Amino acid sequence: MRPQQAGSVRAAAGRDLLGLQGLPTAELRALLARMRELAPQANAPETRTGALAGKTVATMFFEDSTRTKTSFTLAARRMSAEVVDLPAGASSVNKGETLIDTALTVGAMGVSAMVVRARQAGAAAMVAAAVGCPVLNAGDGKHEHPTQGLLDIYTIAGAHGRLGDFDLSGLTVAIVGDVASSRVARSAIAGLLPLGARVACVGPPGLAPRSLGCLGCAVEGDLDALLPEADAVMMLRIQFERHGEGGDAQKSVEKRSAAIASVREYRALYGMTAERAARMRPGAIVMHPGPMNRGLEIDGAVADGPRSVVLRQVAHGVAARMAALAWCLGV
Ligand code: NCD
Repeated sequence: MRPQQAGSVRAAAGRDLLGLQGLPTAELRALLARMRELAPQANAPETRTGALAGKTVATMFFEDSTRTKTSFTLAARRMSAEVVDLPAGASSVNKGETLIDTALTVGAMGVSAMVVRARQAGAAAMVAAAVGCPVLNAGDGKHEHPTQGLLDIYTIAGAHGRLGDFDLSGLTVAIVGDVASSRVARSAIAGLLPLGARVACVGPPGLAPRSLGCLGCAVEGDLDALLPEADAVMMLRIQFERHGEGGDAQKSVEKRSAAIASVREYRALYGMTAERAARMRPGAIVMHPGPMNRGLEIDGAVADGPRSVVLRQVAHGVAARMAALAWCLGV
């Protein structure tokens, strides 16, 4: 076992990227600057930078994923690494012990880095403590999703002309909806605050409780009051599947109804409708990490409309993961 922390360094084999919380701001800026360097070639199918030639990256997703897994795979291939995918059925990893055994098994065959997604918060750190290669957290329960944080921050910086120094002072980012369950929000907050942005979370008390203030962000109840101040509005999916964690199915149903009284009411108070999008600042953007529930947290017309940067976020995902792999493997 070895010590674990966000961005912990191991001279020989590289370093882990487990979260943005606690990552020195200089390292965060270095990752974003690397993204800027890689962005022009990141989404070209023929790109093979050669930087990870001879390396093998294992993707181990113990939870569903479309964007994150695909972009990690493309990122590794576009840096000339080999990619091995572990098709991890959820049934085989109900216990932390099993997940560690699986990681040790893959590690024993010799891989250069592991990309891990799991339902349990802290899973990537547990794997990192057990294996001898760098581990990249691709989302661990409600905890963190650092590469999503990088791509979100990069998208905000790009939309507001801050790609030069990634100084986000003067910008307000609103994070709307199920913040309590969201690793996307946690990583975004951890990265946005040290770069100078103001972050305000808003949602019903069950999904955006006051206690989120301990992360350093503001917590507000009224989306309509916040909208005219926001330069970026990040909409989140209601992650019903996380509400029952640690409880049984009946509890999950109860928590669901406690969190939002009705879908119609939720949309009326917290949904990004076309009418709300029209009241935003000139140049303000609407973000969503996906998968989107059109007609619930975001209307289709907004998701496909001029303020939406949803596909730009996805596109930045490849550069984010290329930068993260390079950073972890020390190339
Ligand atoms: C999110 C995730 O899995 O954390 N999606 C993503 O990675 N782009 C958000 C979600 O599931 O709602």
